[in-house]
Amino acid sequence: MIELRHLVKRYGETNVVDDVSMVIQPRTIAAIVGTSGSGKTTLMRMINRMTEPTGGEILIDGEDNRSLPGHELRRRIGYAIQNHGLFPHRSVAENIATVPRLLGWNEKRIADRVDELLHLFGLDPALFAKRHPHELSGGQQQRVGVARALAAKPNILLMDEPFGALDPIIRTKAQADLLTIQKATDTTIVIVTHDMEEAIHLGGRIAVMDGGKLLQYASPAGILAHPATPFVEELIGTNERPFRFLSLGTLDALVEPGQAPGAPIAASANRRDALAELLWSGRDAAPVADAQGRTVGVVRTASLVSGAARPAA
Ligand SMILES: Nc1ncnc2c1ncn2[C@@H]1O[C@H](COP(=O)(O)OP(=O)(O)OP(=O)(O)O)[C@@H](O)[C@H]1O
Ligand SMILES: [Mg+2]
Repeated sequence: MIELRHLVKRYGETNVVDDVSMVIQPRTIAAIVGTSGSGKTTLMRMINRMTEPTGGEILIDGEDNRSLPGHELRRRIGYAIQNHGLFPHRSVAENIATVPRLLGWNEKRIADRVDELLHLFGLDPALFAKRHPHELSGGQQQRVGVARALAAKPNILLMDEPFGALDPIIRTKAQADLLTIQKATDTTIVIVTHDMEEAIHLGGRIAVMDGGKLLQYASPAGILAHPATPFVEELIGTNERPFRFLSLGTLDALVEPGQAPGAPIAASANRRDALAELLWSGRDAAPVADAQGRTVGVVRTASLVSGAARPAA
């Protein structure tokens, strides 16, 4: 568990992080969103003490994060950033091995871990282990950056706009990978993003920052249903709001008995994608299929639309 207590960072006359308190539960993802300059990066960097706070404190599993020397703390906390900061003259394997090596792991253990991570991130070791960063696509470099951050099995992973430079398709894939990896590794993740869509998709909880202040810290559904301030509402986007609600839920609960013509929609699809498919194909209902391809019922355009309506307060 990560607990921020009345955290302040002052540069000159300005509190760029201004009395922020929040608790991040273990094995969850917290997304920090806000406009440029709102203090997101500064807030995150105080967790691993790349930036020292002016005031307040941070407890990690109940212990002050100043109880260890900064460099030791940073070896225990993974950190991944937008331009991934890979060492250009080291191979993929050597990049991933950086922290395990600092920690003095033996060669066999390091090699096994590198192999394991390359597999986890869908990079065939035979093809990728010996390549250098310039021989990888942006998306592959990104995955190596995250693999490197996870190499020493940190309990905590900090990510600063890790997917900002990726195209939409690769970005969606990277987000799905991250969710899978988070579940597989039980890591607590704090991710900074500009993108409310990404925050809603990834975040168990979303922290909205503005001018150094934490405006709201709540679940995606909580933020969408009850934005704390007009600024949060604006960040959600008035026009997008119903669609964002839809994207939170899967179809399962809306499936009704019956039959409908046309291509089936997967029961695991989110409601937003299902509605898009129905509108695009001009149908008012579609069959729904389970993971084995069996038809389990139908979903109606009308029930999807009513699910997008503003929830009762
Ligand atoms: N070392 C520093 N010295 C002085 N001011 C700083 C320093 N680092 C950051 N700031 C200021 O603190 C404020 C918050 O910066 P921060 O990098 O945390 O913003 P951010 O929310 O991450 O923005 P972005 O989305 O653009 O990355 C900014 O106004 C920035 O100029
Ligand atoms: Mg930043």
